Amino acid sequence: MSDTAQVIQSFAAEEQTANVTSQPCVMVIFGASGDLTKRLLVPALYNLACDGLLSKHFALLGTAMDALTTEQFREKMTADIQKFHTRKEFDKGVWDNMVSRFHYIQGGFADMEVFTKLQGKVAELDKQYQVGGNVLFYFATAPRFFGLICDNLHKSGFKAGQGWKRIIVEKPFGTDLQSALQLNKEVLSNWNEDQIYRVDHYLGKETVQNLLAFRFSNGMFEPLWNKNYIDNIQFNVSEAVDVEGRGGYYDSSGVLKDMMQNHMFQMLAYLCMEVPGSFQSDAIRNEKAKLLQAVRVYSPEEVERYVVRGQYGPSRNDLGEVVKPGYRQEKDVNPDSKTETYAAARFHIDNWRWEGVPIYLRSGKALWKRGTEIIVEFKKAPAVMFRGTPVRDLGANRLIFHIQPFQGIEVQFHAKVPGPTLQLQPVNMRFGYGDAFKASRYTGYEVMVYSCSHGDATLFSRGDLVEAAWRVAQPLMDSWTNTPANFPNYARASWGPKAASDLIERDGRRWFELVTEEVLKKVALFKDADPLLLSQVIMALRPTMVAANEMVIKKGDIGRELYLLARGEVEVLDDAGKVIKTLKDGDIFGEVGLLMSTPRTANVRAKTGCDLFVLDKADFSRILRDHQQFANGVLQVAKDRYNLTIKAEQLLQAK
Ligand code: BG6
Repeated sequence: MSDTAQVIQSFAAEEQTANVTSQPCVMVIFGASGDLTKRLLVPALYNLACDGLLSKHFALLGTAMDALTTEQFREKMTADIQKFHTRKEFDKGVWDNMVSRFHYIQGGFADMEVFTKLQGKVAELDKQYQVGGNVLFYFATAPRFFGLICDNLHKSGFKAGQGWKRIIVEKPFGTDLQSALQLNKEVLSNWNEDQIYRVDHYLGKETVQNLLAFRFSNGMFEPLWNKNYIDNIQFNVSEAVDVEGRGGYYDSSGVLKDMMQNHMFQMLAYLCMEVPGSFQSDAIRNEKAKLLQAVRVYSPEEVERYVVRGQYGPSRNDLGEVVKPGYRQEKDVNPDSKTETYAAARFHIDNWRWEGVPIYLRSGKALWKRGTEIIVEFKKAPAVMFRGTPVRDLGANRLIFHIQPFQGIEVQFHAKVPGPTLQLQPVNMRFGYGDAFKASRYTGYEVMVYSCSHGDATLFSRGDLVEAAWRVAQPLMDSWTNTPANFPNYARASWGPKAASDLIERDGRRWFELVTEEVLKKVALFKDADPLLLSQVIMALRPTMVAANEMVIKKGDIGRELYLLARGEVEVLDDAGKVIKTLKDGDIFGEVGLLMSTPRTANVRAKTGCDLFVLDKADFSRILRDHQQFANGVLQVAKDRYNLTIKAEQLLQAK
């Protein structure tokens, strides 16, 4: 062996001893033939095994209603892992070893005989794999079975004997406040809180876990983390997918219960909680619960004022034919459903740190893009010293946590534009996980199973947190049940209902829309734009929405904005109100007034609801001056459209 090989090997050996494996146990999965097991749990176990983090003293015992033998269960898992594993390459050796430890017992969760059989099998596996009596029960079942399974496990004597016994429960934990209180009561009547691990898969995401590491391991942000420096915080979870055939489940849920009450409140708690005394699980969980307990519980009037709901309608082609169904036409959905597929809210945290800081949350399905971001918007710097300079407006500094699909952290601030005059431009510093670390190959469930086996509950929800979260969500659910819903109120692939942008704009603020290069390239003008131009435009754009029939541009007004039409149609009208032209997704308008510095030459009215990006005149002029490519493109549009002839030199002089 060469010297180098020896050195590498000794490092590897050191690394191995630093990696502690999961604790020995038999893992009993209730609902083992379902989606969660094949898509996430088994691939997670396989990842642990590949990384040497799964104990050798491990066995899996699956149970469900499906009539399968152990052999058939193994075959099914072997077929499924090919589809769902997340590694670059599949390691057959690791898998074969692992699947040989899989076992299966068929039966219903109400059947005590099944529990007796399970107990016999667990005892046998305990001996065979020497797990020391440790059993991890994973409830990958519909929530209505949680209480029943807990009860039956207790009745069949599973708690007795040596070793630990722990239960992992999937969300949703309850379907409202009352049922969550009841469920906690049932579960805790026979088990202790420290045996119950309530999963929220968002806590398995590296980027969510990093919220804590970021806040508490960096000295420069925590001093600013309060009402004195932060203007508002936005949590945004956009999903491009619709209900994906899960209409039956979703129609009794909706985005409030499916995303906000759990995943989004978890992120909220991490971001806004007080500094815990330590990284111990209870120290963190105490602060999380305290934070959610401080979120104001709304009266019906406050729900009306601070919360907006939406439901997506069908998408249609140019002929008006339905291309994709609206929510009410989805399989297993009530055709008159009042279930919300979108919600936006302003919450208040009534404590010393956050008093008066609006906390905005929004999430929805069938939106224009997939993306989860948290935006911390700081108060603006005093603009007073820029009096007498060309600087007009100081934008806010932002700290953006990109949770997914891009994983990173970004700081937005201002920099001086090079040149003799004082001009500012928004710029950013961006950290991408992919640039700093080897990308995570994990599903997010590895850490859940691993931590639970070690008795570390940090990443799991305690009963009081779940109840506090339901307490905040409950008045919204009550109000919505009692008031009619004007659905559908947003188009598929749009930014959501207009009422959501009105909600935040009423406060003089705007949703932060993450514009990516791909999005911008859909606008013809930027199709072949160079990266520098794209990044400058992205930093300068602000999103806005207009309702159908709303006038976007009024003839005679002074033009201060260029519009990029991201979705929808607008009509350009002549003096008699006749439509001269219809513009669609990817078109720009409003360029003439800006180019010529003349009042608007025509009215422009929204034909449908529209999602628009706005480029303010100062940014437009700056980008035009700096990017010949942009200037040529805009001029070409104006020329093609209005036969407007203006020379580039003239234009640049005019700016
Ligand atoms: C689940 C919801 O909990 O989270 C789904 O039931 C949703 O409706 C999913 O699509 C989103 O998770 P992720 O990890 O894709 O953001």
